[in-house]
Amino acid sequence: MTDQTLADLLRATFITADAERGEVLALSAELVLDQPVEQVAAAFVHATAHGVYELAIAGSPVTDSVFNPGWTAYEWRLQYQSFDVTDRLRASSGTVPAEARVGNGWYRGDFGFENLKANYGEEIGLLAVVVVEYLDGSRQLFGTSPDWAASTCEITANSLYQGQSVDARLRVPTDPSSSSGSVAGGPGSVADSPLTPPEPDEGPETHTLPEPAEGPETHTLPEPAEGPESHTLPEPAEGRLLTTREGEFDASRLIPQVGPLVRRQEVLTPQRIWKSPSGRTLVDFGQNLVGWVRVRVTGEEGQVVTLRHAEVLEDGELGTRPLRAAAATDRYTLSGGQDAFEPTFTFHGFRYAEVDGWPGELEASALEAVVVHSDLKSTMTFECSEPLVNQLVSNSVWGQKGNFLSVPTDCPQRDERLGWTGDIAVYAATAASQFDVADFLHSWLLDLAAETIHHEPPAVPVVIPDVLKHGNYAADAPFRDVHSQAIWADAAAWVPQELWRRYGDLDRLAAHYPAMVTHLESIEPLLSDTGLWDQGMQLADWLDPDAPPDQPWAAKAHPGVVATASFYRSVAFAAEAAGLLGRDADAARWAALATRLRTAFRTHYIADERITSDCATVYALAICFGLLDEAELSWAAKRLAEVVRERDYVVTTGFAGTPYVTWALSENGYAPDAYRLLLQTHCPSWLYSVTMGATTIWERWDSMLPDGSINPGDMTSFNHYALGAVADWIYQVVAGIRPGSPGFGRVLIQPVPGPGIDWAKATYTSAHGPISTSWELAEDEFTLAVELPESLAADIVLPDGTRCEVVGGSHALGCTLPLGALVAGGESNE
Ligand code: BGC
Repeated sequence: MTDQTLADLLRATFITADAERGEVLALSAELVLDQPVEQVAAAFVHATAHGVYELAIAGSPVTDSVFNPGWTAYEWRLQYQSFDVTDRLRASSGTVPAEARVGNGWYRGDFGFENLKANYGEEIGLLAVVVVEYLDGSRQLFGTSPDWAASTCEITANSLYQGQSVDARLRVPTDPSSSSGSVAGGPGSVADSPLTPPEPDEGPETHTLPEPAEGPETHTLPEPAEGPESHTLPEPAEGRLLTTREGEFDASRLIPQVGPLVRRQEVLTPQRIWKSPSGRTLVDFGQNLVGWVRVRVTGEEGQVVTLRHAEVLEDGELGTRPLRAAAATDRYTLSGGQDAFEPTFTFHGFRYAEVDGWPGELEASALEAVVVHSDLKSTMTFECSEPLVNQLVSNSVWGQKGNFLSVPTDCPQRDERLGWTGDIAVYAATAASQFDVADFLHSWLLDLAAETIHHEPPAVPVVIPDVLKHGNYAADAPFRDVHSQAIWADAAAWVPQELWRRYGDLDRLAAHYPAMVTHLESIEPLLSDTGLWDQGMQLADWLDPDAPPDQPWAAKAHPGVVATASFYRSVAFAAEAAGLLGRDADAARWAALATRLRTAFRTHYIADERITSDCATVYALAICFGLLDEAELSWAAKRLAEVVRERDYVVTTGFAGTPYVTWALSENGYAPDAYRLLLQTHCPSWLYSVTMGATTIWERWDSMLPDGSINPGDMTSFNHYALGAVADWIYQVVAGIRPGSPGFGRVLIQPVPGPGIDWAKATYTSAHGPISTSWELAEDEFTLAVELPESLAADIVLPDGTRCEVVGGSHALGCTLPLGALVAGGESNE
């Protein structure tokens, strides 16, 4: 993206118009080319919005992506997108309609729980420019200006939480012979038939315009504003005409698109349609997903069809209580002809839909669920002999799909959908195994940096982007300005750490380092004289299954142990990062702080081979975060295994401990116990939800209780990825594909088999190519096949400790398992 792109975009005027808050704005104008279409060398459109925009040039959408400009920390980072429109201009008559729709999106989304109704501003609008380059080197710019026509349109209500309403009677039929009633090819319109998304855009989205040509430059903007009706414009949507005006816009925040765009990814058809006990029509799409339902329907003019969405059923009816204040309801008013609807200005987290007001019998072919998320490349396949584990892995993948929609969110369905930092702090490693998240999380970390540096005082907020700071808080609201939480704030170090391990990008580490420093400097003064982080409120081992349902922070694990250990991990990584970046003074500073924390932890929290609060989380963190000396690992792992066995292998950890407990066991001689913990099906456990039919990871271990009722807690989502972080252990330890050096410059193949799984295979697509493992157990004979990209060096470690080094190609290896390798309960270790 050149400076020229931004300069061109800034030739346009940010425009808005006053409509009802729920109404989508329709903005349109007509571009008349200066030269014959054959003279068009290249043409691009650059655009951004307050809100979310859809744009059609020459009668068809400029992109198959949705929710542009995405969600970023809008106060400092507002992305613009660039799309190639050369072909459509060349194919045009030379008079080119430009039509846009602008909805509320995240900008005016009434965001936040407990009625916070947080917004970035009250005015939505568009900034866009079409840049045409002619063969003679001249350029023509055509941008948004108050000359554009504005009106309301067929989308009469739009809200990410509440849903979308479309009145098909307000659509402008462009082809009288068509009965679809939709604006043919316009933004927000849907293909007539079949119900498939538009073809993906070709190539990357961040096009670079050819260097500015030297020739003459003409501007079709700005014309004197005389009111929309004085211009020859495409027929506006049949809404109310509005007055277009310039809106307030701070151009200093503009940045080119950094991460992937959001796109329709796949389509699921109804698995079942039936009547609920109360006589309502329910549809099951067979998978908890994020997106919307696309509908094709014919009925009487004015008939209203309503779709409500939910993740689960309760008592045979749609289970909407967990959605709290999010209505997640789409309403369609029929035109009387054949209508198609696709609510692209909202999204829902759902598996089930309730359809009301449908004319006649609802056929499965009339509906399809469209899965929408950021366009991430899948990088992991995994399969093993235990179908429940395969489903668990699938649930983790689907959890990531649904919660990687522009930003990494806690959940996609209720009145929240926020970038909770703690959730991604513990899930980043898993996320980076499953999909290529390099750009996605890099962009989010730049948001984190902006929010952290601008926070007063500088500190990491609990959600990024921090829309909550704009919330309407009651004076005594508990969540008013909560920040500097262990694990949550540690996202400033842990997420860059995982990206460094996975992708090894030093420039990006350098970009993430300043926020890491701010985080460390914000916490250091909070340490007690002892050197512990043991003061103040902590979310800590959030959602420990033994905590009362209404006190998710009241975990067994001592909050000071969790906070001090977590901060130690951050500081130790900051020391490493500073060293890598050649900041020697910083490296020494952080190393000294790390030593202080470690010493304090060991002095105050370790006694008689026990760690304060003696529960699985504290041992898991101390072992995995490096707070113990080599010689201490044996008693700590032994005690961890005992604690796990004492509870008969149900999970006893929350957000803090869950990602690390299997690691702490398997890497220290207790792999069989880790396997038994993984394979437990009694509640609470990873596989309990799977046996209850889960198709995503649940927020609570028992979001659905064994009797099929929904957990009565106020905070009960069925699509929260955090507790699915065990999937990283499955990929790295069960399948055995581990980074051997940052960025997989070298790979470590070290599968650790255990009881209950007879074979496993996985492929991770690294930057160097696909890395595959496949192993099998026959009695105690272990065989392993490894496939590596050419010239990738691998260290292979077999379960009996045998090591070898190979470079590229296919390799078959094997060994006899050591005694006890498949026996849980510690017999082999005692
Ligand atoms: C979110 C969590 C989050 C937590 C922290 C919840 O409402 O859904 O995932 O991390 O709050 O307080």
